[in-house]
Amino acid sequence: MTGKIRFDEQVVVITGAGAGLGRSHALDFARRGAKVVVNDLGGGGRGDGKSSEAADKVVEEIIQAGGEAVASYDSVEDGEAIIRTALDNFDRVDVLVNNAGILRDASFSKMTDEDWDLIYRVHALGAYKVTKAAWPIMLQQGYGRIINTTSAAGIYGNFGQSNYSFAKSGLIGLTNTLAIEGAKKGIKANVIAPVAGSRLTESILPKEVVEALKPEFVTPLVIKLCAQDSEETGSLFEVGAGWISRLRWERSKGVCFTPSGELSAEQIEAAWDQISDFSHAEHPRTMQDTFVPVFGNLGITM
Ligand code: NAI
Repeated sequence: MTGKIRFDEQVVVITGAGAGLGRSHALDFARRGAKVVVNDLGGGGRGDGKSSEAADKVVEEIIQAGGEAVASYDSVEDGEAIIRTALDNFDRVDVLVNNAGILRDASFSKMTDEDWDLIYRVHALGAYKVTKAAWPIMLQQGYGRIINTTSAAGIYGNFGQSNYSFAKSGLIGLTNTLAIEGAKKGIKANVIAPVAGSRLTESILPKEVVEALKPEFVTPLVIKLCAQDSEETGSLFEVGAGWISRLRWERSKGVCFTPSGELSAEQIEAAWDQISDFSHAEHPRTMQDTFVPVFGNLGITM
């Protein structure tokens, strides 16, 4: 058993921390000694309006419990303003949890450009903007922890969520590259696909399920991944209701056709079962794992 995970002297920025998962993360980081920037635009679940109330309430909760926190009411689209709040108040940024989110569900045929654009702006562009502002600070410190929040819809797709799936899957790619670029600079980046009862899920799940799916079952994984001695990076986890699982890619062994200069659709059709045969599957982790079979088929060793 390792010691208690603490964040004393560390500054933690959490977007969308006025409710649901973000609030739960903020309270736990603060309990563990962190100085927390509680960011929340305070609007509706579809991206309408704004209010300082959501962030203020969580800051108040933290202060009442003896912790340290400041509010930020900016949209994640203005990532620089959120990070400026951290610097103005606490001088540094050690942990960034990109968590803010809204939904604009509609089947693809009924989706409007506004539904598409707004979801992209909050989930994908927003996470980019806040991370982009925090990144040089983490590089300079030689230390950083980043958590992005994707969704099962971003991994598997989901009816009525093409906009959300698109934006959320982008966060997985972003995280993978941040993990690579941050590796030598002490920056670890991971991505979680949570399931929790919140404003975003209360309209699709029965009330008793929403109440049982506590955000507090997700937060401990975020805390563990952001611990100072954590080596985990570039990983994707599904988490909810006390269940935690790690995902990886699986690739069939594949078929190397003779590189005679020609390859026909009929050859591929004839080998389809073998192409799709996972009985000797591999688990690639890097781009190099793609180059090996591709160039190997040309007789070039990488
Ligand atoms: P929530 O609605 O309780 O919390 C999201 C918070 O983000 C709200 O307080 C909202 O005001 C804030 N927010 C929205 N737009 C913002 C913006 N532009 N700038 C700053 N803050 C903004 O929802 P929940 O469930 O806690 O969601 C947190 C994250 O987890 C979201 O990214 C969501 O997509 C993701 N997620 C949640 C799942 C769940 O089961 N609850 C499932 C999969 C993903």
